[in-house]
Amino acid sequence: MLAKEVIRKKRDGGEMTRAEIDFLIRGITDGSMTEGQVAAMAMAVFFRGLSRHERVGLTLAMRDSGAVMDWPDADRPIVDKHSTGGIGDNVTLVLAPALAACGVGVPTIAGRGLGHTGGTLDKLEAIPGFDPFPAPERFRTLISKHGCAMIGQTDQIAPADRRLYAIRDITATVETLDLITASILSKKLAEGLDALVLDVKCGSGAFMQAQEDAIRLAEALVEVATGAGCPAVAHITDMNQPLASAVGNAVEIRNAIDVLRGDHADPRLLTVTRRLGGELLQMTGLAPTLAEGEAMIAESLNSGRAAESFAQVVAAQGGPADLVDRPATHLQRAEVTLPVLAETHGRIIACDVRAIGLAVIDLGGGRHVTADRIDHSVGFTGLAEIGAEIAPPTPIGVVHARNVEEAERGAAALRAAYTFGTGDPRKGALIGPRIDAESIRTESCVQ
Ligand code: URA
Repeated sequence: MLAKEVIRKKRDGGEMTRAEIDFLIRGITDGSMTEGQVAAMAMAVFFRGLSRHERVGLTLAMRDSGAVMDWPDADRPIVDKHSTGGIGDNVTLVLAPALAACGVGVPTIAGRGLGHTGGTLDKLEAIPGFDPFPAPERFRTLISKHGCAMIGQTDQIAPADRRLYAIRDITATVETLDLITASILSKKLAEGLDALVLDVKCGSGAFMQAQEDAIRLAEALVEVATGAGCPAVAHITDMNQPLASAVGNAVEIRNAIDVLRGDHADPRLLTVTRRLGGELLQMTGLAPTLAEGEAMIAESLNSGRAAESFAQVVAAQGGPADLVDRPATHLQRAEVTLPVLAETHGRIIACDVRAIGLAVIDLGGGRHVTADRIDHSVGFTGLAEIGAEIAPPTPIGVVHARNVEEAERGAAALRAAYTFGTGDPRKGALIGPRIDAESIRTESCVQ
């Protein structure tokens, strides 16, 4: 087989066979396909698209380019959730231990921040001593002992995606549903899951800003995951404002701990956490209905079992044993904290969430290029919500910065991100459409 002939077939609108897809993915992984050929393949897919069979085949081939976990001795269902990326989205930090406390296994593989959005791996690295790269056997032990472990993506997971994504990134071929779907799912399905819930963000801070685009992505993800043998459900959730009241790394860990302990109710974060967890508990048969699944998640939070589970996971992965009891002792604090007072007063009707994400990067809490080092202490807390009436001296948030100059720059960015006015609030339903296999009438096409 010749790579250029397979590329030609796709370029001319043909459908690649599974053997041809496997051949290309092998070539991407072992380097026998040149960068030019990989770019040409990505561009051919960009213009011609993939059939459902091709999408499933590509996802499975990319998944199988590296290590794929299996859990033959597991005494509980293995599940995970994936978020397409948001701001102030610390759902994983609350949901994974809550699920573990409900009796499922959650082998979370977390990523770094992408563009303006935060990454769970960066947040976990804000915990002193936390080891996000345990050896594979240790990872297994953590799941069987604690029901949950949170690790970073390594070179062993879907290496074909790593190379393909790097080439897509420099050849204007990131924005294709076919390749996005295969990229996301190849990594998630490598976890050997019994069920997957997808949180597809929609709004000014999301990858997908229009609801119809978010629905198309959700449908593609559910269809391909299901076709690849992993039951999946997606929810479209609102990203027209940060999900939680804190955005950054250490401040989001603190926020998650406060929510787990019940010291702070972040209502939108909790609603999304309960819904995604409830779905997974229903999908695995541990809850008879979605409502009962949600109630189980709420109970694990209210009883303190989820907080206990988080504390155990953190300690087992090298973090402080008393992090949950004494977060302030361990989490890095920024040199300067400054309440941000609005220059206008009245009702907040809109929020430029992307601008808040970029402001965190500017404070030093995210990356401009992959090699950038992150300052885990910086970010925002106490962020005001759309619909809030702001009157002096109520701040719209607090900026955490390395110095006064950066704090003032962050404060100006935060002020500019909020719109005050009298019109309708610009936000969607917190939890929008639900997409499952039935709703898109898919059938299994594992090859
Ligand atoms: N996230 C991924 O992991 N891959 C993509 O292609 C886009 C977003």
